[in-house]
Amino acid sequence: MPPFCGLLPVRDEADTRMLRSIQCHIDDFYSSAFKRDCEGNVGYRGGSPRKQECELLARLVLQLKPETSLDWGLGDAAVCMVIALAKRELGISKRHISLDPLQHSISKDVGLIQLQQMGLLEDVDFREDRSEEFLVQAMRSNRAFDFIFVDGDHSFGGKVIDAHLAERALKPGGVIAFHDALFESTAAAISLLIRDHRYHLLDLRFEPIWQVALRCARHAPRLGIRYAYKIVPRLGISIAALRKPSGG
Ligand SMILES: C[S@@+](CC[C@H](N)C(=O)[O-])C[C@H]1O[C@@H](n2cnc3c(N)ncnc32)[C@H](O)[C@@H]1O
Repeated sequence: MPPFCGLLPVRDEADTRMLRSIQCHIDDFYSSAFKRDCEGNVGYRGGSPRKQECELLARLVLQLKPETSLDWGLGDAAVCMVIALAKRELGISKRHISLDPLQHSISKDVGLIQLQQMGLLEDVDFREDRSEEFLVQAMRSNRAFDFIFVDGDHSFGGKVIDAHLAERALKPGGVIAFHDALFESTAAAISLLIRDHRYHLLDLRFEPIWQVALRCARHAPRLGIRYAYKIVPRLGISIAALRKPSGG
């Protein structure tokens, strides 16, 4: 990862210090893909975003300084870890909320164990909720967020419902980010936010232009020319971030 990254430059010494501290934890997390579960078994886990994507996420959160934040699904907790660490570095005391209905039954608490080992359990309000149920409840109680990260149900229906409901749970001017923006389901969700709700896509690109051009060409047949040439060049590998208009 270069020291400067698109619209997310390292502005001063404080930024450098915060990034370095978060980087230590990211290095630690990615030092092995084998993680321990609550039954004591150690197994290969490969479902988290890439290391470089987590580094990018750290920069994004440090820049956005979100008071209220939410992610799903927790999984192995790479995303949750980065958001919680960045908020801690920023001195934001409001706990980050993370959802995953299958954390215990399927993941066997791997994510929670990671958070515990990093000393982050206190920084995270974990709930075994499905995103759609949590979001409907959040709307009923007029709860809204500055930053939302989506990495849960990757089915078409799941992703579009997530985007539709998250749109209403995001504060004006807030930012929603998606992992796996090269999935067709995520592409549909992103297109919905841009076309129906006038969301603005942030430029997260940090790779050389030739690498991005190759990705655009490779995914154009599947995702469509428009998405491949308008959206893909602004992704940070496969992370998309969109800002909700301030007007509502
Ligand atoms: C690809 S993994 C997420 C990886 C995770 N972000 C990380 O950093 O390690 C997807 C997770 O989404 C969870 N999930 C699936 N459907 C969900 C839903 N409706 N709401 C919340 N989480 C969901 C799954 O249990 C799974 O752990």
